[in-house]
Amino acid sequence: MPANSPDYQRMQQLRQELLHHSHRYYVLDDPEIPDAEYDRLMRELQELEERFPDWVTADSPTQRVGGVALSAFAEVTHLRPMLSLDNALNADEFIAFDKRVRDRLRTQEPIEYACEPKYDGIAISLLYRNGVLERAATRGDGSVGEDVTLNVRTIKSVPLRLLGQGYPDLLEVRGEIYMTKSGFNEMNRKAQESGGKSFINPRNAAAGSLRQLDPKLTAQRPLTLCAYGVGEVEGGSLPQYHTAILQRLADWGFAVSRDVASARGVEECLAFHKMLQEKRPSLPYDIDGIVFKVNSLELQTTLGFVAKAPRWAVAFKFPAQEEMTVLRAVEFQVGRTGSITPVARLEPVFVGGVTVSNATLHNSDEIARLGVKVGDTVIIRRAGDVIPQVVSVVMSKRPDDARDIQFPAQCPVCSSPVARVEGEAAVRCTGGLICPAQRKEAIKHYASRQAMDIEGLGEKLVDALVEKGMIASMEDLYELTLEQLAGLERMGQKSAQNLLDALAHSKSTTLPKFLFALGIRDVGQATATTLAKHFGSLERLLEADEASLQEVQDVGPVVAKRVATFFADARNLQVIQGLRAHGVHWLDLEVVPQEALPLAGKTYVLTGNLESMTRDDAKARLEALGAKVSGSVSGKTDCVVAGPGAGSKLSKAESLGIRVIDETAFLQLLEQLA
Ligand code: IVH
Repeated sequence: MPANSPDYQRMQQLRQELLHHSHRYYVLDDPEIPDAEYDRLMRELQELEERFPDWVTADSPTQRVGGVALSAFAEVTHLRPMLSLDNALNADEFIAFDKRVRDRLRTQEPIEYACEPKYDGIAISLLYRNGVLERAATRGDGSVGEDVTLNVRTIKSVPLRLLGQGYPDLLEVRGEIYMTKSGFNEMNRKAQESGGKSFINPRNAAAGSLRQLDPKLTAQRPLTLCAYGVGEVEGGSLPQYHTAILQRLADWGFAVSRDVASARGVEECLAFHKMLQEKRPSLPYDIDGIVFKVNSLELQTTLGFVAKAPRWAVAFKFPAQEEMTVLRAVEFQVGRTGSITPVARLEPVFVGGVTVSNATLHNSDEIARLGVKVGDTVIIRRAGDVIPQVVSVVMSKRPDDARDIQFPAQCPVCSSPVARVEGEAAVRCTGGLICPAQRKEAIKHYASRQAMDIEGLGEKLVDALVEKGMIASMEDLYELTLEQLAGLERMGQKSAQNLLDALAHSKSTTLPKFLFALGIRDVGQATATTLAKHFGSLERLLEADEASLQEVQDVGPVVAKRVATFFADARNLQVIQGLRAHGVHWLDLEVVPQEALPLAGKTYVLTGNLESMTRDDAKARLEALGAKVSGSVSGKTDCVVAGPGAGSKLSKAESLGIRVIDETAFLQLLEQLA
């Protein structure tokens, strides 16, 4: 009697759970659990069904190609089913796939594969008749999808009419609609500001945007297409290699991935996988693996299909960027400027390629937005080098004893009262430099590479020095002795002497570095440099009031107030005095009038991603050299700095014949002119 078997019961339970989650994912565009968790449940069910084939039911989620058609849109029956891909989760599974391919083809020769990023968006079928877009449909359940033509027509990278000639009378192009990381962040930021619903990741945002009932809303979303193959073809023919087809699609006006390659045999494929996995954080869009496709169409035909997927392709996945875990506790950390940040202590979880046990919760607004409690199961996202985030709560897993998160009324380190500044989400400790936590952070910042660059004075050492009462502020650093330092744990004579040398060396600095090192709130490297160049000397900066501070390029009322408040505080002046008394010095700068700056009168536009600095920094650096930085390309633009992912601005600049430079050339320019 199967009903009594634990395996049978588990199968029933898995089916129910998968049904619930696929409804949330495909119909509501509101997944509750991470994709990786969904895949694991599905795999578990598949394995059980393989062991007990008699218990497979027709309505089991394993029997479906994927997804369901949404009722709000008209149904479209695909001319050819839209299949899915088998996954390989590690090198062994990929090697096994390649072996299956060679066994079926009865060859020992290495196979040539087309390697493409696996875009994390939603599949789309685009039907062109005589070169004109006739219909766009989602995959739905693979046989029947939804007609989303009106929405897709608003996506600028989808050609409404094909370019060039030689295309078949009827051509079905397949690809992925996705959202760039920057488009997603920007959209979520706006949604959060206006109290709207934010999306948990770019894939989810793309799906939600494509299924808007009003195409005007879709038009406002930053959606993009990447074409990766063809479906039905009539009245014409295509090349016999997949990579050549992609080239043809590009000629006809489609965006195809720039990161496509061909590889021969397993070794080359594994090398490509590794290379792109390393590049993953810096790509402007999310990918969740590499798709390897047998490049020859003739061999593809020989290999054919199984029920749901082609035998000639596989998705070799990267480690998932989202995973589920339990929020054990929330602790509060005090930052350099006293801001108190809630930090989630998590049941350790492997996500984005590393084990994560902490994640930031930002502030009390964020906690309220997430509605999270201690004991909750949460989804953690770690994309690239970004700090892990708690993106949502799996409400259905909330335990009865989940506890509210209480913000402390006193600083957890020095017990000074905390204050919430109006208009700011952050809660701050009012203890200033009395608070050891703020002291430590201020000293770490002072010693950091971009500030006074004191080599050998790392975070742990600062913690130890403050905890032992050997230093309480930055001036004290310069009074440390060889005996004191050499007496510390894990510190020999030699490293103690090296540190003293580094401290002595740091005394000779520059005004921008010194200003940055002081740790004035909202004064980053770029602002410190602008201030230094504008005033030339610390004395002149100290004399400036808020109004004259605002005359400095890129300094608005907030930063002006921060700077004025900092220098109005006697304690800060005393610290500066002390540092100078210990020999900290720099050369004053010549004040160059705005018109005499090297880029005065020039207009620059920044587009795409830069690897070595943020856009804001790049903007500040250009402005410090006298340039105007504009958001759009026009006849008045002198130069466009274009990083990877540059789009319409780059093409416009090219069409207007405006000078375009890449990041390397940009860095050289900054160096030359600085
Ligand atoms: S080929 C029969 N290539 O991955 C071949 N799919 O499970 C089917 N995807 O939702 C697709 N990037 O939309 C292919 N470069 C790529 C892809 C890709 C993303 C998606 C596809 C589908 C899923 C396949």
